[in-house]
Amino acid sequence: MVTASAPGKVYLFGEHAVVYGEPAVPCAIELRAQVTATRRDSGLRVHAGDLTIDGFTVEYEAEASDRPDIDVEDQLVEAGIGYVNEAIEQARDAADAPEAGFDVTVDSQIPLGAGLGSSAAVAVAAIKAATRELGVDLPPEEIAGRAYQVEHTVQDGQASRADTFCSAMGGAVRVEGDDCRTIEAPDLPFVIGYDGGAGNTGALVAGVRELREEYDFAADTVEAIGDIVRRGEAALADERVAEIGRLMNFNHGLLSALGVSSRSLDAMVWAARDAGAVGAKLTGAGGGGCIVALDETPETTSALKYTPGCEDAFRAALDPVGVCVED
Ligand code: PMV
Repeated sequence: MVTASAPGKVYLFGEHAVVYGEPAVPCAIELRAQVTATRRDSGLRVHAGDLTIDGFTVEYEAEASDRPDIDVEDQLVEAGIGYVNEAIEQARDAADAPEAGFDVTVDSQIPLGAGLGSSAAVAVAAIKAATRELGVDLPPEEIAGRAYQVEHTVQDGQASRADTFCSAMGGAVRVEGDDCRTIEAPDLPFVIGYDGGAGNTGALVAGVRELREEYDFAADTVEAIGDIVRRGEAALADERVAEIGRLMNFNHGLLSALGVSSRSLDAMVWAARDAGAVGAKLTGAGGGGCIVALDETPETTSALKYTPGCEDAFRAALDPVGVCVED
């Protein structure tokens, strides 16, 4: 039996634009998905407990092809099972053990589909746990590559390498197309606001793609997000937190122009700014889910807790630890 864990992430800058070859900077946060893999004779059995913080709990123990009897959106449950299936396929391939059977238990602190990289963290941790259980030790870069293949398959080709690379490596990373690297970053005071919902990543990505094809100014907006990311990288390197916050605000405005914000995300962003956050933006695909703000004080967390539409607000420190085996 091997248990591995991997962190979720926030996008400091660059979601959506990264799909068109612009750079993005995601940062790993101290909310982790834990996956335990145990060899069995054949097949795959998945037990997923507590797949989200506050939304719902999945207690599910069955063959992976069965549907659990729970009251959540089918799309999320199917995706969750799909990620585990594909991750185990990747582990079998890496260990050259195509017939290996597994019992897999997933325990995640990361809300599903909310822009915090839950699926990437589950895929990364599952590949680590299952390969280790088969006696193979993969470097985190290879786990990132294989987890990207998992996302690519489950999400019908609509995935960048950002989530999976960040979750495998930990800390702050920079992703531009296939070029992925870790970067230095100060310990940023992240505050997360969560509206309890989830966006449909595929539909949101498709919406931006259509706008970009229809309007030159939408294509320019995507490029402008790339410019923000490049400025943001320089600000990160020099630890200019106020500048990072300004750029986050700008990035949110452009995402909003591209139609991927929502009333609740905007309400949380403005509540954070009014409370004195140095910057605030949605994180991930948008449409619902989470915002990320920067505030050293408790003010933003308190303000978010009283914001209509905000279901949960919490601090989440930058997590320097990527995928790892738990003792
Ligand atoms: O919501 P998330 O965490 O799956 O992020 C999606 C980010 C996009 O840039 C919109 C798509 C992608 O794969 O990069």
